[in-house]
Amino acid sequence: MAEQAVFQPGTGAIPATLVELTVMVVMFTKDDRETQWREFGRTEVIWNNLNPDFVKKFVMQYCFEQSQKLKFEVYDIDSQSADLSKHEQVIMQFRAHKLDKKDFFGKSDPFLTFYRANEDNTFTVVHRTEVIKKTLNPTWKPMTLSVRALCNGDYDRHDFIGDFTTSLRELTRGPGQTNVYECINEKKRRKKGQKYQNSGTVELMNVRVEKVYTFLDYVRGGTQMNCTIAIDFTASNGDPKSPNSLHYSSPYHASPYCNALRAVGNIIKDYDSDQLFPALGFGARLPPNGVVSHEFALNGNPQNPFCDGIEGVVSAYLKAITSIQLYGPTNFAPCINHVSKFAAAKPNGDEYFILLIITDGIITDMPQTCEAIVNAASLPMSIIIIGVGDADFEAMEVLDGDDVRLSSRGRYAERDIVQFVPYKEFMGRSGDNPAVVQARLAREVLEEIPDQFLSYMKSRNIKPRPPVQRQLTISSITSLPTSEQ
Ligand SMILES: *[C@@H]1O[C@H](CO)[C@@H](O)[C@H](O)[C@H]1NC(C)=O
Repeated sequence: MAEQAVFQPGTGAIPATLVELTVMVVMFTKDDRETQWREFGRTEVIWNNLNPDFVKKFVMQYCFEQSQKLKFEVYDIDSQSADLSKHEQVIMQFRAHKLDKKDFFGKSDPFLTFYRANEDNTFTVVHRTEVIKKTLNPTWKPMTLSVRALCNGDYDRHDFIGDFTTSLRELTRGPGQTNVYECINEKKRRKKGQKYQNSGTVELMNVRVEKVYTFLDYVRGGTQMNCTIAIDFTASNGDPKSPNSLHYSSPYHASPYCNALRAVGNIIKDYDSDQLFPALGFGARLPPNGVVSHEFALNGNPQNPFCDGIEGVVSAYLKAITSIQLYGPTNFAPCINHVSKFAAAKPNGDEYFILLIITDGIITDMPQTCEAIVNAASLPMSIIIIGVGDADFEAMEVLDGDDVRLSSRGRYAERDIVQFVPYKEFMGRSGDNPAVVQARLAREVLEEIPDQFLSYMKSRNIKPRPPVQRQLTISSITSLPTSEQ
């Protein structure tokens, strides 16, 4: 018997720098004799997901003796053409009465499975509720289903109580007689005949349809993004005159800081509304009198710390490195609090702040930084920490809070707002395609920003305003002298 090979495009297949993607994968094959690729099949389309798990499996004969070449093309389907229901979700809650008893010693452990009817009369699992143990009258938790989403179904078997069918339109009519369903077990009905009534009833308790807003909806609605850059000038980076220093630059060699600033700056700059970047430094002794500062304007002008574009930040950085003295300790909290102060003044969603910290990661004010981040987590703000060099970044992983939510003095951060990126790991090796390296870095840097942004807007119940029309306004009209004059 010929062997079969099964392909299932899965999580993480797509290196993307975009915020929204609507993805489909097409598989092509070619054998030794063929010169052209043949389309073998395509996956379903998944909306708004950078890590799609496709349900579609490609099954093909595996021929040991042949070289069977495969090609996968990943498409971003133009989301404009997709219908709008993808941005809606339904929140509903059900309970049931007098379900059949299934467990011999006790009651039942009921859950609901929702199937979506496909056009070809097959069904796909869209959602499964939690199991409620030992009851015939369960009330399930409210659940949220995206109108569009198809989740991976697993078809493991359970004791079947019964089923019913309905439609989303029907469900959106809300609780009441029309949304009480008799659960029917066909097999049991056939066996019991006339005596069978139902296997219990399931009742909709509440339902609401919500629009799901995307990051771009807010940006189109006029939310301004404000990116601030903060650079670590502490002595642990090494003497800038020594070639081993992370701050060592020469005409032939850009310092690791400079490289990281350019690479990451050019990624986040697309998010910034005005391309004027307030830039800060920390951990240095400043001229003229050698005062240590943990929060100074990189361009030496606290009244106007703005640098024009990323190259403006780079030149302010190169100038600063020659005039200041690397010192310490490495305190993050002052720069975080600096941006928080501005973010606190704009709680209504008109502005969102991103603080980019470039550092060697040897932090000395961990408790104060945790406190500052926990405070910032309730503001419209995100922090991206770029680690340069080879230091131990364990403290940065703690701040990142992906595994354990950050807390300070017993208080937990309201949201996760920190993304830590060890710069070196994303630089690849020489010989790697620079565009691919840049895309990988971009993905890592930006991955969490849209969700962090949306979690703020959602928690404050802020909806995007209608798209801002960028209009050309005529501020003055001058009439030219006519020839008769
Ligand atoms: C952006 O944030 C910085 C604080 O880091 C602040 O100095 C600046 O005024 C803000 N820019 C705008 C346009 O609000």
